[in-house]
Amino acid sequence: MALLAPSILSADFAKLGEEIRAVEAGGATMLHLDVMDGHFVPNITIGPPVVRSIREATRLRLDAHLMIENPDLYIDEFVKAGADMISVHLEACRHLHRTVTSIRSAGRQAGVVLNPATTLDHLDDVLHEVDYVLLMSVNPGWGGQRFIPQVKDKIAALRERINRRRLDTLIEVDGGVTRDNIASLAASGADILVAGNSVFGQGNPRAATADLMALLHV
Ligand code: DX5
Ligand code: ZN
Repeated sequence: MALLAPSILSADFAKLGEEIRAVEAGGATMLHLDVMDGHFVPNITIGPPVVRSIREATRLRLDAHLMIENPDLYIDEFVKAGADMISVHLEACRHLHRTVTSIRSAGRQAGVVLNPATTLDHLDDVLHEVDYVLLMSVNPGWGGQRFIPQVKDKIAALRERINRRRLDTLIEVDGGVTRDNIASLAASGADILVAGNSVFGQGNPRAATADLMALLHV
């Protein structure tokens, strides 16, 4: 059964605790945290202190998506802040194998993120070392963008590669996930669907969470 990962990027940061309790009440089991540094992506969001406060406020599984340069410098900070899953962009890592190994040796799940223009071939020699691959279905930087349609085939192609190699790597999809495409993305092979605007941009995050999760459970 595929999982929903509400992204707080579209939440009201002035009432974050309330927003998190709403998605918990809607049935969410994890929370997607978008970390942006203003260099790797043209936007700035949150860092370890906010992750630490969220960790103290919820038992949801915390999925930190690092859209930052030099992620190696900060892995330890995010581990200490309490992230359960930490993903780094392939495009930002010069020594990707070392980076994912360091996340795993800290006892956290390691993910590799591919931008829409990055091909799956770059993953081949590290795929067996990662717990999940996050396929970006928008260009990272902002919530509320439109799903890039070609990514649907990329999900299916990655699922095929994972299955062929008998790996248990999960596939996460991030960007432009809505109630109209969520079920078909899961059917294409996605295990975790990130949703920001579709959860927090609709006025009732509790109901939106329950609604999207119901679409995954049919
Ligand atoms: C985009 C972020 C996403 C974002 C998705 O750079 O990585 O996690 O929150 O937002 P929606 O679901 O609104 O496209
Ligand atoms: Zn994200």
